[in-house]
Amino acid sequence: PLTSVIIPAAGMGRRMNAPINKQYLTIHGKPILAHTLEVFEKCPLINEIVLVINQEEFSICKLQVLKPYCFTKIKLVRGGDTRQESVFRGLKAINPKTDIVMVHDGARPVIQESVIVRSIYETVEHRATTVGVAAKNTIKVIGEDGFVEHTPNRDYLVEIQTPQTFEYGLLKEAHEQAVLQGIEGTDDAFLVERQNVPVKIVIGHYTNIKITTPEDLIIAESIIKRLIKNDKK
Ligand code: CTP
Ligand code: MG
Repeated sequence: PLTSVIIPAAGMGRRMNAPINKQYLTIHGKPILAHTLEVFEKCPLINEIVLVINQEEFSICKLQVLKPYCFTKIKLVRGGDTRQESVFRGLKAINPKTDIVMVHDGARPVIQESVIVRSIYETVEHRATTVGVAAKNTIKVIGEDGFVEHTPNRDYLVEIQTPQTFEYGLLKEAHEQAVLQGIEGTDDAFLVERQNVPVKIVIGHYTNIKITTPEDLIIAESIIKRLIKNDKK
């Protein structure tokens, strides 16, 4: 199937507290965003990469990410105020002949090609998938008063990551409906769930962390070094 990936990278990275957007910080000498993009560039099943970035960051992106590394599949799009809006802008820019669309955070540089491939295969079969990992911690639902309301069975709790992968028409419809209904979700699967389409879980790796706060840089650096040593990256 013709497959496009949208990479939202137009956030502000507030929780990182760095002077530049976190995606341009380097890990093992390379910008985070370049790590992310390289995996999709190398994957033969990906036909097109729609990279969504801030208008003010076009030049830093070109200078530090696009020029030094060899990318051939990338199309640049300007981002929006929220992640959902950024993804929606990406959706409007992808090849209309696309069969499958994948959404992957720019800030998840340790995604592995095998997970991308499994996500695509599972989506051909099930229409909508998201990568996730079994929750390691006990999660409790609390009330406004700060007291526990209940404790869901951990066997059924999954921590959601990206990529999230969908039939193109399905994700487009889900986003259009969300705009009409004024719905804002933190992930794309949520919008598809609202269309009453079941979303299948693809079990991924604990290493696929989202770089959010400063300590994540240290963790990601050591994971990436180990993957390189084992020739998996
Ligand atoms: N993102 C985006 N457009 C936005 C907001 C977020 O494209 N308006 C992207 C981010 O660049 C990131 C991904 O969505 O790659 C996941 O979001 P998050 O980790 O929350 O990144 P930021 O929003 O940049 O960070 P923070 O919430 O700490 O400000
Ligand atoms: Mg954010």
